[in-house]
Amino acid sequence: MKTFTKILMIMFAMFMSSCNKGNEAVAQTTMSQKMYLTIDGVSKPVTLYNNAATQALVARLEDGNVTVTLNSSGGFEIWGALGFSLPTSNEQITAQPGDVILYNGSNICLMYGSNSWSYTRLGHIDALNESELRSFLKAGESNIEVTLSLQATTQPTSNTLVIYYSYTNKCHEIVQTLTSQIDADVLRIYPADKNQQYEANGYAIGMQLLNTINANPNSADSYPEIDPVSTSLDEYNTFIIVTPLWWSQMAAILQTYLFHHGAEMAGKNVGLIVSSHSSGISGVVADAERLIPDANWMGDALWINNANHGNRATLIQNWLTDINYSAISTIIEDVNIDSNNALKGIYNLNGQRLRQVPETGIYIENGIKKIATKK
Ligand SMILES: Cc1cc2nc3c(=O)[nH]c(=O)nc-3n(C[C@H](O)[C@H](O)[C@H](O)COP(=O)(O)O)c2cc1C
Repeated sequence: MKTFTKILMIMFAMFMSSCNKGNEAVAQTTMSQKMYLTIDGVSKPVTLYNNAATQALVARLEDGNVTVTLNSSGGFEIWGALGFSLPTSNEQITAQPGDVILYNGSNICLMYGSNSWSYTRLGHIDALNESELRSFLKAGESNIEVTLSLQATTQPTSNTLVIYYSYTNKCHEIVQTLTSQIDADVLRIYPADKNQQYEANGYAIGMQLLNTINANPNSADSYPEIDPVSTSLDEYNTFIIVTPLWWSQMAAILQTYLFHHGAEMAGKNVGLIVSSHSSGISGVVADAERLIPDANWMGDALWINNANHGNRATLIQNWLTDINYSAISTIIEDVNIDSNNALKGIYNLNGQRLRQVPETGIYIENGIKKIATKK
């Protein structure tokens, strides 16, 4: 009987040690070099693990970007051939949403769900939740062109960029409503620390973060860390900032982004939408003016509180009319004037930036009016 118990214990220990191996694999070291995935002109950063496969992949991408055609499969991934092989260190793992995986040495899998298989880990797409992953990776679709690169290659599709942070998704809903009314690209800011409970202990952590900023607002060290952002602001002429109110101020996480990038909005159109439970927003307006000192403010900020959040579609529509959004954001002269005073890029006559020359009709390229006729 004793021997039997001993055997059971040894088997249990062996089982635990094989589980631990799995856990060790999860805690791999990462590279400082990011990889970018670009789909439909939108780039997202990938944190790469440091292994023989990623070292070979980075070396390959140093020679130029790689575009692959991937297909949805199994309800959890898009995958397909890389066109070359990488060294494998396969192990049985359960890949999670956001994981970037090497399968069979020469296929790349981008996960929007989970699956257990013998894989080599390459990396993890930064800071996208499952529904954002499904939309970015075009889950369920076929023949999805994905470009792998070492630099972000996002092409703006609009003159306007909406920049927001959201903790309990009220601002997220506001942005969804806003972008159903205007054509805009969207940038969501995420805290580096995903485990903070800002509302814990009577919202004390949120208050601590703001107190640190208020004590020394000119020091980068005062601002909580956020996930890296690859979006360039250069190509946009209009920004709409959507922020929660915390303790009558701008939420600390968004303050970090604006502390580093607010100056890049100098001379450009900026609008502000603030979501609070019930407090008035003058403190948030003051934060925005401090962090984006030379903005061309588009009218007064829009305040959406808990009581009228359900009515946001009408509030946003009226605000866009009040600030004369469509006229302001499409003034072509405001966009990208280079040293020769020529306008970079291709625009339609409404001032909306185009990705390519249209098949027919009048357009403006680098400041010169042209006519496209179908051949
Ligand atoms: C740390 C913290 C502090 C807050 N302080 C206030 C406040 O002083 N007054 C108020 O009306 N709402 C306050 N709120 C509530 C948020 O402003 C409100 O719920 C907002 O709609 C949240 O937006 P979000 O869901 O996009 O994060 C606070 C929320 C948090 C997390």
